Amino acid sequence: MLDSIKPEKVNWRHYFGGLSFIMIIMQLLTGLFLIFFYEPTIADAYKTVQIISNEITAGGLIRNLHRWIPALLFIAVLVHTIRCFLRKDFSNQQKKVLWLTGVLLLLPIFLLIATGLIMPWEWKGYWFMEMVPNYFGTIPIIGDSLKSFFMETYTIPRYYVLHILVFPIITFVLVDYHILVKLRKRGIFHYLLKHAIVVLPFLILLLYLSTTMQIPSNDPIDVPLPLEGANIIAPEWYFLIILLPFMYLKDSPWIPFISIFAPLIVLFATAFMPYYLKGKENNEEESYEDKHHHRATGIKLLWHKTMRNTAAKKIANGIIVTIITVVIAGLIYLGNYNSPTFGCNSCHNVSKGVRIGIPPDFFKDRSKLPLLNDNEWMMRHWYYPNEVW
Ligand code: HEC
Repeated sequence: MLDSIKPEKVNWRHYFGGLSFIMIIMQLLTGLFLIFFYEPTIADAYKTVQIISNEITAGGLIRNLHRWIPALLFIAVLVHTIRCFLRKDFSNQQKKVLWLTGVLLLLPIFLLIATGLIMPWEWKGYWFMEMVPNYFGTIPIIGDSLKSFFMETYTIPRYYVLHILVFPIITFVLVDYHILVKLRKRGIFHYLLKHAIVVLPFLILLLYLSTTMQIPSNDPIDVPLPLEGANIIAPEWYFLIILLPFMYLKDSPWIPFISIFAPLIVLFATAFMPYYLKGKENNEEESYEDKHHHRATGIKLLWHKTMRNTAAKKIANGIIVTIITVVIAGLIYLGNYNSPTFGCNSCHNVSKGVRIGIPPDFFKDRSKLPLLNDNEWMMRHWYYPNEVW
């Protein structure tokens, strides 16, 4: 009885796609705010970030929202993806484009995170920038040319354009094919209103994280301790996952396979699943959205649906979702929990001057900074900066 009158809005599992969409819109809005204060130059990038964080009204909050939204976006996308897998959307020929664009979206979002991390041009950003050429440098045959390409062409304004223009446009074209085409027919406002309910707890969590766990940028006035920030979740993590083999495998020829080829193969193989795994045309089983739609037409239908979804099936799905989530979250946590990014300022703060405090102008000259070529040193310095420096 209770089940039959339960409004569909309460069923949280349907809403993680919508939540991701709302997170992307919020990221766009907070990004628009930052554009007005951030200066994309080597000399002023970090200064303007400091001004945003400490002087502009709500600047610190908005900057840190812009850092935390990707973390929640990641979780929302993860749950949404697991849901779609369990629903076997890849065998549903009507959802071909939905599936393809959904999986491909991971790529520009990942690139947005990577370029966004470099932007503040403090030591974390500088470190990331130096790791990008090193990362591509591991590719056999063309690695060296790629490495020098990324080194030589890097300038803050270029990566800024990638971050605020090129990757967002790619993202929005994919989002458009993924969901907006449909939403325009169904009514975007109605959709957003419905999803606003599930977003509320996430907004509260976002506000909490963005106010309590901020990246300190008021150095040299407040200087953190070297390992401050260890065990604190930060969106910086995702990029580190693919760099971890550099620490554990040193110069192994397996690194490009584990860190570059395997993830890309998995991504594209997953993206094109509906094209080579032609399942049955899901005619009798209507698409989720349609069911969803019909449900509102009567309590009878609702009841029918509830009876079909037996408790056992729900529990089994629940267990699968929990296991996958725990495994993925556990891997991220184990691999990265001791990343002490907040504490970089303890040694690298502006009071120390150029070279240790401010990334040096000759940062592209590896003959002057040979440690930057040493991936193992770079990784260990990131994780254990108080031991390896
Ligand atoms: C305990 C102090 C300390 C902390 C904390 C620290 N570093 Fe360093 N870092 C150093 C010193 C000292 C050097 C210079 C090493 C050298 O050139 O011999 C350095 C160098 C670097 C370099 C450049 C390497 C080179 O050849 O100049 C990068 C990049 C870097 N650190 C990034 C970071 C990041 C990112 C963090 C935070 C995760 C961090 N550091 C935290 C002390 C520290």
